Amino acid sequence: MAPPRKLHIKSYGCQMNVYDAQRMVDVLTPEGFVETANVDDADLVILNTCHIREKASEKVYSELGRLRLARDEAAQSGRRMQIAVAGCVAQAEGEEIVRRAPVVDVVVGPQSYHHLPQLLARADAQGRALETEFPVEDKFGFLPQPAPATIRARGISAFVTVQEGCDKFCTFCVVPYTRGAEVSRPVAAILADVERLADNGVREITLIGQNVNAYHGDGPDGRAWTLGRLLQRLAAVPGIVRLRYSTSHPNDVDDDLIAAHRDLPALMPFVHLPVQSGSDRILAAMNRKHSAADYRRVIDRFRAVQPQIAFSSDFIVGFPGETELDFAATLALVTQIGYAGAYSFKYSPRPGTPAAEMPEMVPAAVMDERLERLQQLIDAQQSAFNKAAIGQTVDVLFERAGRKPGQIVGRTAYLQPAHVFPGDFLGPGMSPDALVGQVLPVRIDSLERYSLLGELAATPPQHARPLAATGA
Ligand code: 5AD
Ligand code: SF4
Repeated sequence: MAPPRKLHIKSYGCQMNVYDAQRMVDVLTPEGFVETANVDDADLVILNTCHIREKASEKVYSELGRLRLARDEAAQSGRRMQIAVAGCVAQAEGEEIVRRAPVVDVVVGPQSYHHLPQLLARADAQGRALETEFPVEDKFGFLPQPAPATIRARGISAFVTVQEGCDKFCTFCVVPYTRGAEVSRPVAAILADVERLADNGVREITLIGQNVNAYHGDGPDGRAWTLGRLLQRLAAVPGIVRLRYSTSHPNDVDDDLIAAHRDLPALMPFVHLPVQSGSDRILAAMNRKHSAADYRRVIDRFRAVQPQIAFSSDFIVGFPGETELDFAATLALVTQIGYAGAYSFKYSPRPGTPAAEMPEMVPAAVMDERLERLQQLIDAQQSAFNKAAIGQTVDVLFERAGRKPGQIVGRTAYLQPAHVFPGDFLGPGMSPDALVGQVLPVRIDSLERYSLLGELAATPPQHARPLAATGA
């Protein structure tokens, strides 16, 4: 039998890329590849790229420069290293990569990962291979399932893609071009994935998609199901104790989703709902198709049914034409909503998007200064949100052993890391690992940077077993 070939994937960008990296591993495992953390050891290196902001493609070319050296060194010891570029830069600039970087063997867009083995074979035969089409067949149907041992090794929290692509065409964004039109997976396929994950010890599922709450997959009743309905069905899967979804658009928040937050204890009260700006003028120029007041109304609908709910968001500062007054409206919106956290970015023109053609670029120094002010406000809100947990007893889903002996780490409903020494609470012979996969109440005593430190507030059930022993 041939020795396994070693695979190293370096992922940039969003959760979808993290998930896609796992899917690429699942495609390549049956081909005899095993993962390695060491790029120099790898027989195949995949750069899973992101195109959303800044000089993403320049980063790819400089990484390729480094890889060329690693590849030359491998060649000197008689070993062949193949190099592939995947992800959104591959999709957007495939031909350019082939032209500029002779070191690259394979360029593969996000819709074509299931063809990776054929592309590698084609590169072997012909020197290079490029595939950035949007194939007509459904990529999802062709991706192999991970083995039970792989699911367990990935831990108790898993991502499941439910939709891909976006039809919104915000004027700053490349996603509609790199990920294509919006497509939803059928309910039955998602349910099968979630059941399989749950059978193998997964307890938390995050449904992902570029515009996840536009989900409208075919249901078993022959009708299109909303995300809310899908969540309701998944909440009934035995073993699934937490559900999340990301990323949403305010205009696609419908009554079913609100009802899901009202009715499903498993649906975590933490929603990532990007608004981008608080200025109606800028929102219009961004083609967001909602005003700041519309966004506030959406937030109020969530809050009316679920008082525990907290929000995070994305913001862009320095969109073309943004004045000090526009920016003040963003700060005002942040102050009014009160976030548990948020990401903020300087606007970066993306080639091919309408905003890239807009005049009135905001000077870099002004962008820097606005970003700084916005981040200070968001940091203050995040710290206040985290501090508010001190003295409270909160549910923590335990994920893994901590770095310190005897310690165990999990997350709260709001994704705050929580560190606990369960010590006395464990029965005789029980290791802290036995708590992995369980949700237990923790009394929070203190805060260390972004992590909560606390103590178990209840004795774990005696049937607690290590994760490795659960499932099929
Ligand atoms: N410039 C800056 N930020 C951007 N984002 C998307 N496109 C751009 C861009 N051209 C941000 C948005 C989005 C997040 C994923 O990235 O805030 O919600
Ligand atoms: Fe991009 Fe999100 Fe707008 Fe779609 S909704 S175009 S993914 S920012």
